[in-house]
Amino acid sequence: FGPKLLAGLSLLLTAGPTREAIDPVRYISNHSSGKMGFAIASAAAEMGAAVTLVTGPVNLPTPANVSRINVESAQQMLDAVMPEVEKHQIFIGCAAVADYKIADIADCKIKKSAAEMQLALVRNPDILATVASHEKRPFTVGFAAETNDVEQYAKGKLARKKLDMIAANDVSNSDIGFNSDQNALSVFWQDGATHFPAVNKQILAKQLLTLIAEKVKT
Ligand code: PMT
Repeated sequence: FGPKLLAGLSLLLTAGPTREAIDPVRYISNHSSGKMGFAIASAAAEMGAAVTLVTGPVNLPTPANVSRINVESAQQMLDAVMPEVEKHQIFIGCAAVADYKIADIADCKIKKSAAEMQLALVRNPDILATVASHEKRPFTVGFAAETNDVEQYAKGKLARKKLDMIAANDVSNSDIGFNSDQNALSVFWQDGATHFPAVNKQILAKQLLTLIAEKVKT
């Protein structure tokens, strides 16, 4: 991976989980560690790209030569991403964005009372779909975290969200995907597909970016 395949290109990506507040002390979130997205950011910078990384709360150092924007909620992630979109030729949505947020965030800590309680949730904006439908859109790559029917769901997201490419991982296997050092990806685009078998996320990031560089340049 010696050559600077992404020289002259600018890449925007999201990583990590989002946190959706319930009250001042609680939130809902997911198991994303940010490792996959940070590996992509690091590899892209090594491959010569100018990289902007918008990340949810993770416990990882900023990779060399990457400019980092920290956010918590999906709405904050969208608000950080959209002003950047037109400045970049490539967008990769690697963040595990919460699909739902709390309808009414409590101002004060919710006190324990009844044996059962219910939280009302409302849909979050879809960052990836918003980027893909932007007038001056970058080459837009989504991720798909699936536990079953990986190919079918990934291809559905590719078409529905009008993406250029989607990288699907099977998160039912705890050796890959969320919070592990390895991952495997099945990648789909309009008229093709490829599979990258399980390998550490740094190597996988370079394999994925090499494929993206090929497609962006053709
Ligand atoms: O962070 P790690 O621990 O290394 O784990 C990596 C990972 C498993 C989180 C990563 O490889 C991955 O699969 N990321 C996408 C997780 C996800 O949210 O997948 P999804 O199938 O629910 O969403 C599909 C796509 O839409 C994703 O690109 C997601 O970023 C995007 N999305 C989803 C919902 C939403 N409201 N806005 C979005 O932009």
